[in-house]
Amino acid sequence: MTHLPPLSPDLTQALLAAAAQPHHATSVPIFQTSSFLFDRYEEMAAAFDGSSDRFIYTRGNNPTVAELERLIAGLEGTEAARGFASGMAAIAAAVMPFVQSGDRVVAVENLYSDAFRLFEVVLKKFGVTTTYVDGSDSAAVIAALPGAKLLYLESPTSWTFTLQDLPVIARAARAEGVISVIDNSWATPLYQRPAEAGIDLVIHAASKYLAGHSDTIAGLVAGPKHLIARINHEAYHYLGGKMSPFDAWLVLRGMRSLHLRMARHMENGLALGRALSDHPEVTALRHPAFHPHPGRAGLSGFGALFAFDLAETIDIPRFANALRLTKIGVSWGGPESLIIPAKAALDLAGSANSFRRFGVSGRSIRFAAGLEETGALVADVLAAIDEARL
Ligand SMILES: Cc1ncc(COP(=O)(O)O)c(C=O)c1O
Repeated sequence: MTHLPPLSPDLTQALLAAAAQPHHATSVPIFQTSSFLFDRYEEMAAAFDGSSDRFIYTRGNNPTVAELERLIAGLEGTEAARGFASGMAAIAAAVMPFVQSGDRVVAVENLYSDAFRLFEVVLKKFGVTTTYVDGSDSAAVIAALPGAKLLYLESPTSWTFTLQDLPVIARAARAEGVISVIDNSWATPLYQRPAEAGIDLVIHAASKYLAGHSDTIAGLVAGPKHLIARINHEAYHYLGGKMSPFDAWLVLRGMRSLHLRMARHMENGLALGRALSDHPEVTALRHPAFHPHPGRAGLSGFGALFAFDLAETIDIPRFANALRLTKIGVSWGGPESLIIPAKAALDLAGSANSFRRFGVSGRSIRFAAGLEETGALVADVLAAIDEARL
């Protein structure tokens, strides 16, 4: 069941290549500038007409951000990539250019809650409707495709952590002329390369594993040149959610240890999964490593964000408060283990409450396994369950 993490000479080489900048700096310098100068009129004209690749203005392009874009495109095996101010800015920019009033999107159930709100609050207002399907059921996804414009995937999904069979679904989407988009933040390009399976656009919330230190918010979209050009012309410049040079630098710095961190995250997630899978007071474990699915064939390793349900015999607030090493907090992908008890978010205000819509159980705990010592982390969780018994 356990996949070995791939060795990453490619990653190391790519990062060193990225650092090949003026003065041969070992790490990529931060070009903290809003704009770039031209000595002559002709140079500016060439930058504007596209006959030179000179930088003009940082909302459009910046050397530090461009190095990260190049690195992600290389790792995902795509022609191009674009950096954004957040994962959500990347999601919005990957979706907006490809839909207009009257169009329909197909999305997987249990997608990330703010992506759900983008569809239900923003796109709905502009006349774009969304059909939600069980992504683990390829036949159900394929049946929903005819007439749709865009397919939105997350493999695995949020909270339920179910996989999709990417090659099968991507082939069907191509045949129907539907643009396929996936959020690949959970697996990272080290463990899953959706473009190789035929998915058109690959999104990263770089705030998570890529940056990896809980110290920045950033996003990326990778894909073929013609689709990234559509994003440039119809979203990127005008929505303005551009990744800053400093944030790009933090992501680049984080990525230098991505392969090492992912190996430890995975180990911790699997150890917790093993400890919880036969625990008498855990009624469900939602972790892709513990459930067979054809989507597993596309994964060479596992992210460490998963969920489990606690039996009625466990008091959930008491469980959360009994954790010592593990902290209570949103987000994931950093060094610290974090939980969100679904119970705390079930009554989230507003109509676009994905917890209610997709039936997330109030007994569910989302667990982001960090980089702590494995035995201590498992002991922390088991002890908290013991302390929370009614
Ligand atoms: C699966 C997933 N995708 C996207 C995002 C959005 O990323 P950001 O917070 O950088 O906008 C998140 C954030 O929690 C997430 O969990």
